[in-house]
Amino acid sequence: MALFMLNMMRSCAVACFLAATLAAAALHGSSGFLNARQSTEKMAFCHFVIGVTDDRTSSSDYDSDMQQAKAAGIDAFALNIGADAYTDTQLTSAYESAAQNNMSVYISFDFSWYTISNTSGIGAMIKNYGT
Ligand SMILES: *[C@@H]1O[C@H](CO)[C@@H](O)[C@H](O)[C@H]1NC(C)=O
Ligand SMILES: *[C@@H]1O[C@H](CO)[C@@H](O)[C@H](O)[C@H]1NC(C)=O
Repeated sequence: MALFMLNMMRSCAVACFLAATLAAAALHGSSGFLNARQSTEKMAFCHFVIGVTDDRTSSSDYDSDMQQAKAAGIDAFALNIGADAYTDTQLTSAYESAAQNNMSVYISFDFSWYTISNTSGIGAMIKNYGT
């Protein structure tokens, strides 16, 4: 039952992300609009929940997300993380895919899991992925 719920949530979250991306592309998808927006100083960021991609096995599993987001005019993913066992594996893959696809990513620490007193842990993550 718990696994079923998790899979449902995962499917739903991916579907919601795709729906949001496609809706954004449909709304703003004409290349004229996209070019106009990209010529401004304003940037678009998209929240990406690493907790729903915990079972991905390689950086190429992230390629389609990176490519679709870029095509929709999204400048960067904010990679939402908790302190889970899969976090480093998935962050490494997401960062590799971003580099391969010329996409920008950064870490969004989820303070439902992190504590503000964990400055050393958070600092270590930023140091590890921030360069
Ligand atoms: C990578 O993306 C940046 C910013 O979106 C852009 O200025 C640059 O031309 C891109 N480089 C390549 C090789 O696509
Ligand atoms: C602090 O952050 C590190 C790095 O993400 C993490 O591994 C650790 O579980 C965190 N500790 C606590 C108490 O949240």
